[in-house]
Amino acid sequence: MRYVYLIFIFLVISAVSILGFRGAKKTAPPLEVFDDMDRMPKYMPQGESGFFADGRTDRLPVENTVARGTYHEDEYMQTGKLGTEFGNSMPAEIEVNHAFIDRGEERYNIYCAVCHGLAGNGDSMTKKYGMLVVADLTQPNFVNYPDGQLYDVITNGKGLMYSYADKLSVEDRWAVVLYLRALQRAANGSADDLTPAKREELGL
Ligand code: HEC
Repeated sequence: MRYVYLIFIFLVISAVSILGFRGAKKTAPPLEVFDDMDRMPKYMPQGESGFFADGRTDRLPVENTVARGTYHEDEYMQTGKLGTEFGNSMPAEIEVNHAFIDRGEERYNIYCAVCHGLAGNGDSMTKKYGMLVVADLTQPNFVNYPDGQLYDVITNGKGLMYSYADKLSVEDRWAVVLYLRALQRAANGSADDLTPAKREELGL
């Protein structure tokens, strides 16, 4: 039994003499049983390398790399903004035709109608279930939104409404904006919009 005490005391003394007291500061380099990846083969920034033909460790970015937060010429298409202001037109890259509006109608009916209603006036299924804050998109203030701002709401969400950027491609978002314009036009139309023949036919 005596030996156990002796061995224990010996271990304590050797541990303290190697590791030091708790909190003690040493200026000597630390004991390094494993090197903890303090030293590993690596290239320093802007260093030299015999591995690459041009002798540089830094590689050039892949061709056509776009830095985060920067856009190419199609900036308006991506952001809906010209500088810091919302633009009020379809991006030049987009060809406006009936097929494109049809695409917008299809996407709108899939992703927006549940809340904003098939006619855009907020008369929807979710409203029936009690979601009363859904915006009526045919109201004058939304009619007066520039195209870019409508695009921005779809891209980034607004207030309680989520972003739809993960569900709608950039093109599809513009298609939805265009279809939304058609809904607004339809909701705010009057008899004057009809041809005289049509007006007569309807007795207006
Ligand atoms: C889950 C329900 C829901 C869906 C789906 C939805 N919205 Fe909304 N949206 C809302 C709510 C709620 C508001 C009001 C947000 C607020 O003011 O907090 C709103 C507001 C808006 C506004 C007005 C934003 C403003 O500036 O006040 C626009 C424009 C709009 N939505 C367009 C769309 C379009 C386009 C889609 C389809 C891509 C869509 N929303 C899908 C719930 C929804």
